Amino acid sequence: MLTRPGASVGCKARIHRVFCAWRPLRIELSRLPRLKILQRSHELHVRLNSRNLVFCWTNESPMMKLLRCLTLAMCMPLLADQGQAQIAPLIQNINARQTTDLDGRWQTIVDPYDVGALDYRAQQIKGNGAFFMNHKPQSESELVEYDFDTSGQLNVPGDWNTQRDSLLFYEGSVWYKRSFDYAKPSKKRLFVHFGAANYQAWVYLNGEELGHHVGGFTPFDCEITDRVKPQGNFLILRVNNTRGLDQVPTVNTDWWNYGGITRPVTLVEVPETFVQDYSVQLERGSTHKIKGWVQLNGAQRQQKVTVRIPEARLSQTLQTDAKGRAEFSFDADLTLWSPENPKLYDVEIASETDRVTDRIGFRSIEVRGTDILLNGKPVFLRGIDIHEEAPTRAGRAWSEDDARTLLGWAKELGCNFVRLAHYPHNEALLRMADQMGIMVWGEVPVYWTIQWENPSTLRNAENQLNEMITRDHNRAALIIYSVANETPISDARNRFLRQLIQDAHSADPTRLVSAALQNEETVEGSRFVIHINDPIANDLDVMGNNEYIGWYVRRPEDADVTDWTSKYNKPLVMSEFGGDALFGLHGTASTRWTEEYQENLYQHQIAMLKRISFLRGTSPWILKDFRSPRRTLPGIQDYFNRKGLVSDRGEKKKAFFVLQGFYRDLRNAEVPASPR
Ligand code: GCU
Repeated sequence: MLTRPGASVGCKARIHRVFCAWRPLRIELSRLPRLKILQRSHELHVRLNSRNLVFCWTNESPMMKLLRCLTLAMCMPLLADQGQAQIAPLIQNINARQTTDLDGRWQTIVDPYDVGALDYRAQQIKGNGAFFMNHKPQSESELVEYDFDTSGQLNVPGDWNTQRDSLLFYEGSVWYKRSFDYAKPSKKRLFVHFGAANYQAWVYLNGEELGHHVGGFTPFDCEITDRVKPQGNFLILRVNNTRGLDQVPTVNTDWWNYGGITRPVTLVEVPETFVQDYSVQLERGSTHKIKGWVQLNGAQRQQKVTVRIPEARLSQTLQTDAKGRAEFSFDADLTLWSPENPKLYDVEIASETDRVTDRIGFRSIEVRGTDILLNGKPVFLRGIDIHEEAPTRAGRAWSEDDARTLLGWAKELGCNFVRLAHYPHNEALLRMADQMGIMVWGEVPVYWTIQWENPSTLRNAENQLNEMITRDHNRAALIIYSVANETPISDARNRFLRQLIQDAHSADPTRLVSAALQNEETVEGSRFVIHINDPIANDLDVMGNNEYIGWYVRRPEDADVTDWTSKYNKPLVMSEFGGDALFGLHGTASTRWTEEYQENLYQHQIAMLKRISFLRGTSPWILKDFRSPRRTLPGIQDYFNRKGLVSDRGEKKKAFFVLQGFYRDLRNAEVPASPR
């Protein structure tokens, strides 16, 4: 018997509903991205889109049994169809493929009430009224209430917030349209690749749904091989950045909720069976054994594949299995990648039908007690935190130039390490870090108070982590995956984070896992003692810790009487510390918001940090002032977090030089383990 959830109706009424309800069900069938079937004793639960349809039968008559089977039969094609409107597995190293970029000016419609997708009953729109149909009136009397071609344009890539004053605070949906022609050769497949779109994106081509992606900071691909036309294709996205409690991040962050297609969009043409992904890295803890795998995608899964590093005269021939996968390991005598010598090799992965080349560095990273070992030697991570904001213009960073400038400032500070907060940054920055010799801490936006008990929130976080690892696992610069920032301790939180830590270790055993933890403080006599005793640290390789002594907690000078202990024999990276200063505002060292206050705070911090025996890295908050909706103080903050060492116009504050001095001393002292 068919009813909608919670509706308690009599048997007769139920029969009636079955038939008249078929109409909506049948229509809905054609657009169902998600279907779940659950049988419990005498009830059958079918989840369609976000609707629960419950078939329940009591003393089921032969007629009812027939009806139930019919319903099931009707759902089967859905299951088959489900594969179509799916986000495709991520293709590794897009830029080394045959590509066409779709960047530039896209037609857009700002749609705060989602009228392009939902009708006045908040039901999904069918037919030409849906904006993804890009319908034009066919007659003078036809009612069409949207038109991409006269609705304005936005740059892609680019957040919408800094492109139009009216969109600075905008949270909601924006529709994007891009038309293109594409003469796809036969025996080739075609994908459209998105570097990122914040926060959710529904993708359509020529009026058909391609897929739905959740997560604003990781790439996704959609296959359009069977859908692309030689001419007149229209690619449409609905991008929505509305915050939600069950999302990752959740509703509360200290960064601007930039919406839009924030990274490049690319058409990627590959052979029918192509090299989908590969990993070519040194085995964990080894400086001379390469271990990796190759994954093919396509019908011809079993092929001969070679992995070659020509400069090192290395070549390995493999055979992929029935799933298109081959694993390998071999000895290699290579120049190891390090900040002092960021050596990258040309690596070629060639199958019988495809060939991809990449620039890869080889280094080992591991921990031993409280030491972090790079290529087997203790290293101190001289770092700085970075948000993904453009260095010399407003809005999200995405380009090589943005990366070169941001990492250039980090280099000027004397950094060999950066923490990319609080979400995966663009691939251009990871590859620039490879080239410039800067080690990287990558992070997923499990930030502050996530819904720890919500299974779909966990799946979402796992998916974002997996997408980050899939995109970046060949980058030598990337040494640490962080699974969380400043999350309140609870059993549910610990379970959630343990799952992510496990996922990271199993997806990529070659890298370290960390998180920015909470700590506990006691007062002992005239001194403060901070105890790193967060239970989750037990599962981490490296402990991260954020502290704001001198800004949110007491005065800068109190760092002089603060000691640190740790329950764990593990290395600590002080992943955040610092205070706000408005560039050009001067005063006494105790006057908030002045450069002198920030300078003084850094001096006391550095003296304290030097006294922490298990400290193996620092990344102060933060390289550059950045936009935040939480920072409203007029004339000082004006919606900017001012903890940058560089202002939002690229001007260096006094504290910049304090940190630069500290890192210079460290480098000169070549202090193997920790600063003294
Ligand atoms: C927090 C948080 C940052 C935030 C910073 C601040 O620790 O991790 O995202 O911007 O503190 O308050 O400035």
